[in-house]
Amino acid sequence: TSASEEAEPGTHGALTRAGGVRGEAEGAPDSEQLAEIGLRFEVDGEIATITLDRPERRNAQTFATWSALAQIGTTLPEQVRVVVVRGEGPSFSAGIDVRLFTPEGVSGQGSFASAAALDGGTIDQRIREFQEGFLWLRRPDIVSIAAVHGHAIGAGFQLALACDLRVIADDTKFCMKEPALGLVPDLTGTKPLVDLVGLSRAVEICLSARVVEAGEALRLGLAERVVPGDELQAATKELATSLLATDRDAAAATKRLLQGASGRTLEEQAAAERAEQRARIKALFGGVRQA
Ligand code: CAA
Repeated sequence: TSASEEAEPGTHGALTRAGGVRGEAEGAPDSEQLAEIGLRFEVDGEIATITLDRPERRNAQTFATWSALAQIGTTLPEQVRVVVVRGEGPSFSAGIDVRLFTPEGVSGQGSFASAAALDGGTIDQRIREFQEGFLWLRRPDIVSIAAVHGHAIGAGFQLALACDLRVIADDTKFCMKEPALGLVPDLTGTKPLVDLVGLSRAVEICLSARVVEAGEALRLGLAERVVPGDELQAATKELATSLLATDRDAAAATKRLLQGASGRTLEEQAAAERAEQRARIKALFGGVRQA
């Protein structure tokens, strides 16, 4: 039996079946299984925190990481309004687990070589499932914040880009390394990167696979705020708390409007504002007796 055929608890079949953690299709993910994958998930009132927790491998991500992230999204408790994504140890995330590039792969999860043996439609479906782990972070009913420090490489950079906001430590190093390894960034990072820095700069960053350090990241709009490393946690908490100041439904409606703005004309956007406001007025004042 090769290493790639031996199942690790909680990770078996991550490459070859639908997303989700074994035995936890319903309800919140099991914390022990998340720990085996290298994740922690904690909820404190309206704020949830996802921690990449495999510091001994610089929070390298596997296929199971993305399936578990997707499951956290589908089972997110209803009261949660802000989701923080952070990393334990010296780095936010060193990207994909490079063992997946070896023929042996990661135990229980196969490898790129075993993925290459699948038909095109199946590969497409697997990637779609992995992308679900990133896409839900843009949902209008939540605001997601990446709290980034140290290296955020490849899938790590894309996870930071999948969030609505980024607070970063002054030692942050972003790098879109995929093209240097013969692959493309496919974990939903290309659109937010272009939206944030523009096409020319995105081409330059991705095709050189160079490091973007914290100061430049702030200038380019890749981060909302840069803070000293020992202030990252407090700055993230402060931002998260500030986002709870607004009405929950108005916040979701406003995020929907803002998200749709770049794809609409001014007239279309004005119409979208009217539609959202109609719904707000009905919801807020519908039952109030007129004077
Ligand atoms: N996968 C698996 N293990 C990793 C890893 C990764 N991506 N990154 C680091 N590790 C492991 C190292 O092998 C090392 O393990 P040992 O202690 O057993 O030797 C341990 O983590 C610590 O690593 P370093 O000693 O290298 O730590 P450092 O702080 O000096 O350097 C680093 C950190 C700059 C991130 C460096 O580890 C590095 O360059 N890692 C590889 C980054 C990489 O190429 N990632 C892939 C990007 S592409 C992608 O993500 C998406 C895609 O689709 C291809």
